[in-house]
Amino acid sequence: MVETSSGWRSQLQQNNRSLMGLLTTRRALVLVLSVVGFALVFGWQATTVDSTAFLRWWSVVRPEPLMRAEFNLTDFGGVGDGKTPNTGAFERAVEAISKLGEKGGGQLNVPAGLWLTAPFNLTSNMTLFLAEGAVILGIEDENYWQLMPPLPSYGYGREHNGPRYGSLIHGQNLKNIIITGHNGTINGQGQSWWTKYKNKLLNYTRGPLVQLMWSKDIVISNITLRDSPFWTLHPYDCKNVTISNVTILAPVHGAPNTDGIDPDSCADVLIENCYISVGDDAVAIKSGWDQYGIAYGRPSTNITLRNLTVRSEVSAGISIGSEMSGGVSNVTVENLIVWKSRRGIRIKTAPGRGGYVRNITYQNVTLDNLRVGIVIKTDYNEHPVGFNPKALPTIENISFSGIHGQDVRVPVRIHGSEEIPIKDVSFRDMSVGLSYKKKHVFQCSFVEGRAIGSIFPAPCENLDIYDEQGNLVKRSVSQNSTDIDYNI
Ligand SMILES: *[C@@H]1O[C@H](CO)[C@@H](O)[C@H](O)[C@H]1NC(C)=O
Ligand SMILES: *[C@@H]1O[C@H](CO)[C@@H](O)[C@H](O)[C@H]1NC(C)=O
Ligand SMILES: *[C@@H]1O[C@H](CO)[C@@H](O)[C@H](O)[C@H]1NC(C)=O
Ligand SMILES: *[C@@H]1O[C@H](CO)[C@@H](O)[C@H](O)[C@H]1NC(C)=O
Ligand SMILES: *[C@@H]1O[C@H](CO)[C@@H](O)[C@H](O)[C@H]1NC(C)=O
Ligand SMILES: *[C@@H]1O[C@H](CO)[C@@H](O)[C@H](O)[C@H]1NC(C)=O
Ligand SMILES: *[C@@H]1O[C@H](CO)[C@@H](O)[C@H](O)[C@H]1NC(C)=O
Ligand SMILES: *[C@@H]1O[C@H](CO)[C@@H](O)[C@H](O)[C@H]1NC(C)=O
Ligand SMILES: *[C@@H]1O[C@H](CO)[C@@H](O)[C@H](O)[C@H]1NC(C)=O
Ligand SMILES: *[C@@H]1O[C@H](CO)[C@@H](O)[C@H](O)[C@H]1NC(C)=O
Ligand SMILES: *[C@@H]1O[C@H](CO)[C@@H](O)[C@H](O)[C@H]1NC(C)=O
Ligand SMILES: *[C@@H]1O[C@H](CO)[C@@H](O)[C@H](O)[C@H]1NC(C)=O
Repeated sequence: MVETSSGWRSQLQQNNRSLMGLLTTRRALVLVLSVVGFALVFGWQATTVDSTAFLRWWSVVRPEPLMRAEFNLTDFGGVGDGKTPNTGAFERAVEAISKLGEKGGGQLNVPAGLWLTAPFNLTSNMTLFLAEGAVILGIEDENYWQLMPPLPSYGYGREHNGPRYGSLIHGQNLKNIIITGHNGTINGQGQSWWTKYKNKLLNYTRGPLVQLMWSKDIVISNITLRDSPFWTLHPYDCKNVTISNVTILAPVHGAPNTDGIDPDSCADVLIENCYISVGDDAVAIKSGWDQYGIAYGRPSTNITLRNLTVRSEVSAGISIGSEMSGGVSNVTVENLIVWKSRRGIRIKTAPGRGGYVRNITYQNVTLDNLRVGIVIKTDYNEHPVGFNPKALPTIENISFSGIHGQDVRVPVRIHGSEEIPIKDVSFRDMSVGLSYKKKHVFQCSFVEGRAIGSIFPAPCENLDIYDEQGNLVKRSVSQNSTDIDYNI
């Protein structure tokens, strides 16, 4: 990100002034000016004033809604020394804010310092504001992490049967949540979790860093999320979520399952202007797992990702799936840079998932120094007990345009199957420089679709070829030919 820290600081100073006393004064001033304005405007035209004029005019100039009352974590006994647990302070602060919900809610300011805490819940109408230099640190001892029932669309705790650890920052059935600040940090201290996981010392699935469930009207911006024990930011069955100007970091190796953002059964999501470099997928759009996801039946839809720079040496930049059993549709990914990663864009599923992936658009994507650029994989066989292998997902209407880059070993590997053919794929305006191979660089099987205009490397024979003007040049003779080489 390019914002300078002095920009952040001047924002901070402005914010500090908007305390409650000032707020009241400001509202009073707006009110007085409004009434004076009314008198001036309508005094001139007294003869034309009818009884509704005031209301019509008032609806234009009325004061904006109450701003959130501000609190400081230190007011609730917080100690930012990196050693004292602040769980009680966070809980008391959230409790105080929950009482102000009807009056516009409250903002909890977390000042610079290291604020160690066990997991805690947010409340509706709340802003969690992390000042420059503020770091919320997750307690490493898992005994402080509450266990929660499995997500209904997963049936399991994903890694283990039964319950799972909740998230460090958590919320359920909330409205109007803002997590923001001047680039303060939420740090999950994941290292101890990754080590315990690798040594099989955990009996339950690790918890995400931030998880909001069954909630709406969420804004997460201007913060850094770091070293989550598991998935980093997990909006679950939420609506209207904006994630903007967020940095998400975890080691690119040795930090298992530290996905950046996992919109899961969510609608109306915008993720923009983020830098994400983590130990698993940077973004993975999901909607539940096999029979549990099918039964829960909540799709992820209307999701826009734009202006993201991402890196994933273990998995992929932007993924859909592999858990997609409630369906994924209407996704737009634009202005994406994936660099020094294993894969760029990936759609992953398997027989047993059910659901669908459709109407997905990728445009203006830069693939820089990857093993595989674009991957669609239909045999991602990782299943809960009792899944139905006859539940076949459908994949259709996937379009790629403005795909450029360099140093990619295999720009395209689309691997459908007889059971799960991939339909209506289109490529337009693509040029991806190869790192060394000449063969097997545009691999396809059980794929139907189009290549339009200039495409490099040359598209596979499964696709119909059109010229720039959209005239058919050559119709594909077979969709099923296989040119898959996994030794890359
Ligand atoms: C926020 O902090 C992260 C981590 O220190 C840094 O990489 C990023 O550039 C910062 N963002 C801004 C806008 O200052
Ligand atoms: C919060 O309180 C601490 C300690 O009293 C103070 O240093 C800090 O400036 C306060 N922050 C805000 C945003 O009021
Ligand atoms: C949140 O604020 C809105 C509007 O200010 C209010 O209608 C609603 O009741 C509040 N919600 C809660 C849970 O306090
Ligand atoms: C957080 O909220 C969830 C859902 O309401 C609840 O089950 C859990 O006990 C709460 N956790 C804490 C620490 O209050
Ligand atoms: C896991 O379960 C075993 C056996 O019940 C127990 O000894 C161990 O302490 C548990 N570990 C954790 C991290 O809960
Ligand atoms: C979405 O959430 C934002 C932020 O809370 C809010 O301003 C906006 O009105 C919401 N949009 C809808 C359609 O509810
Ligand atoms: C995030 O920071 C940007 C740049 O300083 C600022 O324009 C924006 O208002 C901030 N967002 C919030 C919610 O504070
Ligand atoms: C993100 O930052 C940009 C520019 O710095 C700002 O215009 C935008 O409002 C910020 N987004 C949010 C949600 O704060
Ligand atoms: C899609 O989501 C955006 C928010 O990201 C919202 O503004 C828009 O209204 C939604 N579109 C539909 C068709 O619901
Ligand atoms: C794109 O996102 C980066 C942060 O990753 C930000 O610095 C830049 O201003 C954004 N560009 C636009 C055009 O919003
Ligand atoms: C996708 O978007 C289109 C147009 O906005 C809408 O008609 C369609 O219902 C959406 N599909 C889903 C599954 O939301
Ligand atoms: C596909 O999704 C886009 C938004 O991502 C929407 O505008 C369009 O109408 C959708 N088309 C169909 C056929 O659903």
